[in-house]
Amino acid sequence: MAKVVVTGGSGMLGRWVVRHFVEQGYDVLNVDTKKSEEQLCPSLIVNLEDLGETYSALAGADAVVHMAAIPAAHIYPPEVTFRNNVMSTYNVLEAAAGLGIRKVVLASSESSYGICFAVHPFGPQYVPMDEEHPQLPQDSYGLSKVVNEKTAEMFNRRTGMQVVSLRLGNVIPPEWYSRFPDFMNKPEERERILWSYIDTRDAASACRLAVEAEDLGAVALNIAADDSSMAIASRELMAARYPEVTDFRAPLEGHETLLSNEKAKQLLNWAPKYKWREQVNQ
Ligand SMILES: NC(=O)c1ccc[n+]([C@@H]2O[C@H](COP(=O)([O-])OP(=O)(O)OC[C@H]3O[C@@H](n4cnc5c(N)ncnc54)[C@H](O)[C@@H]3O)[C@@H](O)[C@H]2O)c1
Repeated sequence: MAKVVVTGGSGMLGRWVVRHFVEQGYDVLNVDTKKSEEQLCPSLIVNLEDLGETYSALAGADAVVHMAAIPAAHIYPPEVTFRNNVMSTYNVLEAAAGLGIRKVVLASSESSYGICFAVHPFGPQYVPMDEEHPQLPQDSYGLSKVVNEKTAEMFNRRTGMQVVSLRLGNVIPPEWYSRFPDFMNKPEERERILWSYIDTRDAASACRLAVEAEDLGAVALNIAADDSSMAIASRELMAARYPEVTDFRAPLEGHETLLSNEKAKQLLNWAPKYKWREQVNQ
C-alpha cells in the first residue's frame, strides 16, 4: 500500500484530504503542528519550519500532499506568514528530494494572482482566468504561494520529482453551503476571489489524482468548481464589478466559473462533482 504524508491534515481542508486518501486505501500519516480532532490515521506533531523534523516526518513516504500553511493574509504579521509558508514548503521539498520521494502536491491558491488581498485593487486581465494569467500579488501570502511554485520548479529541475501546485479557489466544506444565501445575490462580497469556490471533497480528489498522475514535471493548476458561488450570471457579475474587462475567452452564458479549471481537467482527468446550487434553495 502506498504511503502518503498529508501535511496540515488537522486543518479545514487537510482533514478532508486525509479522509479521502484513507478511503482510497492509502497508508496515511497526518503531519501538523496541532492534533487533529478526527483520528482517521496516525498523526505526528511537527513544525515544518524545522528541516530535521520534516525529514523524520517524511521518511518512508511515497508521496507528500503539502496542505500546511497559514491560509490567508491578515491572520499573522506578513513576515510570519511569508516565513512559515515559504520555509515549510522549501523544507518539504528539500526533505522529499533527500529521501528520494518522487511525487509532491502543494496547496497553492487563487490568491497568487494577487487580486484577493491587493492594497491597490485591480481586476483580471481576462476571464475565465487561466494559469497563464500574470501572478501579481501585493501581499506576503500571495507572494509565498508564487515563491512556493518557483521552489517546486527548482526541485523538479534538480531531481526530476513531480510537483503539482494546486491553485485552489475558496475552499468550502459541505456544512458551509447553508451560508451561500447570505451572499449569493451580492456581487461585491466575493469579487476579489472572482466568486470562485471548490468543495473540499473535489479538492481532495484533485490531490489524489495529482499523486497518481505521471510525468507532469512541475505544473500549476487552478482548482475550482464548474460554476461560481453566486445566483447572478457570470457575465452580469463581471459587468457589475469589473466593467473594464472586455477580454472574454469563453461564451459565459450562465453561472460558469471565472477561474478556469480546464487545465486540471485535462492533465489530471479530474472533474468536480459537487455544486452548491444543487444543495441549497435559491
Ligand atoms: N481555505 C481556503 O479557502 C484556501 C484557498 C486557497 C488555498 N488554500 C490553501 O489550502 C491549504 C489548507 O488551508 P486551510 O484553509 O485548510 O487552512 P487551515 O489553517 O485550516 O489548515 C492549515 C493547517 O496547517 C498547519 N500548519 C501551518 N503551519 C504549519 C507548520 N509550519 N508546520 C506544520 N503544520 C502547520 C496548521 O496547524 C493547520 O492545521 C493552505 O495551504 C492554504 O493556503 C486555502
